[in-house]
Amino acid sequence: MFISIEEAIKKGKGKVNIHGWVYRERKQKDMVFLVIRDSTNIIQAVIKQDRVSKKEWDDSNKVLIESSLEIEGDIKEDKRAPTGYEIQVSKLNVIQFAEVFPIKKDQSPELLLDNRHLWLRSRKMTSVLKIRSTIFKAIHDYFRKEGFYEFQSPIIQSTQAEGGSTLFNLDYFGKKLFLAQTWQLYAEPAIFALEKVYCIAPSFRAEKSKTSRHLTEYWHAEMEVAWANFNDIQNYGEALIKHVIQEVLKNNKEELKILERDVHKLEPSVKKKFPRITYTDALKILNNKCKMKVNWGEDLRTIEEDKLSNLYDTPVIVTHYPKAVKAFYMKEDPKNPKVVFGCDFIGPEGYGELIGGSEREPDPKKIVARLREQNENPGNYKFYLDTRKYGSIPHGGFGMGVERLIAWICGLDNIKDAIPYPRTMLRYSP
Ligand code: 4AD
Ligand code: MG
Repeated sequence: MFISIEEAIKKGKGKVNIHGWVYRERKQKDMVFLVIRDSTNIIQAVIKQDRVSKKEWDDSNKVLIESSLEIEGDIKEDKRAPTGYEIQVSKLNVIQFAEVFPIKKDQSPELLLDNRHLWLRSRKMTSVLKIRSTIFKAIHDYFRKEGFYEFQSPIIQSTQAEGGSTLFNLDYFGKKLFLAQTWQLYAEPAIFALEKVYCIAPSFRAEKSKTSRHLTEYWHAEMEVAWANFNDIQNYGEALIKHVIQEVLKNNKEELKILERDVHKLEPSVKKKFPRITYTDALKILNNKCKMKVNWGEDLRTIEEDKLSNLYDTPVIVTHYPKAVKAFYMKEDPKNPKVVFGCDFIGPEGYGELIGGSEREPDPKKIVARLREQNENPGNYKFYLDTRKYGSIPHGGFGMGVERLIAWICGLDNIKDAIPYPRTMLRYSP
């Protein structure tokens, strides 16, 4: 019976049967060293000429990296081996002799992206994908635990929500429609039925900028909740991030080690309350502490967000942005109609905006006026405006960029490594 490499290492002695792929190979005169990997770990195996049949010996000399094989042998501790154990092979069965693997050591990021389907097998990508899996589960668990229903919106949409410039057009039987930028406009009507809803789904943004934090297709964890105010929305976002980090720290110690992630940089975000500052105060802080001048009314750019984030060891929540830089659905502050009840969670270490959220504007006249300012036809938003006509309630929600969160938690240089097959303006295959 085959066991995983991790199980074999746990067993530590005696006969084991494992199967996997050749991760490294080193051939000597009368011995072949193979490092074998499976989804759980890697282990060194040694094939000695005098311990196996002639065919097994010849085969072991033919295998190249990524060949698939089955082995039987005795496992024992060996401090020199990469994971502290070694298998003395007594039986070897090569399933397929791999061709020369196109990925060698130290290759350019572009070559690795061209061969992404193969690079998924690397220890780095395998670790990221495991952490990604933990994170998706943790998001589902968090919302389920808080009493949310999972609710789906269409991906094919007839409206914009986050600005026309990043819309992907879709030729829909001759009509111009769009790919979803957000689930939100279709989720707001659902809170009148379910009160608390969430979803993790792809969102699409036609981002022309080549940055380390933008994808054209990303996974968006969104929530919408009835009877909630601006403060509640921020609390949910903070609790969600705390929960996700806790789960990764608990379940992915090994993967974080492989990625050489300094976990001390994540711990404050579990323990400490995230600072909440208004946009207006953020400008003062940028001016005083970072010598950066932003005129009131301008949006924060990446460079300003980065400077600000460097002042904190947790995400910082920036609130009360100028109305003009935020989406049409955000609630105007009754005390200051120049600003809205919108917030951005800026991640530490320069990972940018992790969450964008708001309390929603209840007044349909204000929504219509703001749609007009953006040259939108309010007639297209009838279904949305109906939410403010039949039992309107205070409510709000947010969206979290899952790859942004993954990139931060894993300490990745580029968001492209947070998703199996990244999509950017220039990257659409494989
Ligand atoms: O701030 P955004 O545009 O907000 C919304 O879409 C709201 N409708 C959410 C809501 O209230 N339901 O996007 C939310 C988050 C951002 O904070 C960012 O983390 C992520 O989505 N995001 C991207 N991630 C990767 N690549 C991109 N091009 C992204 N654009 C936004
Ligand atoms: Mg935003």
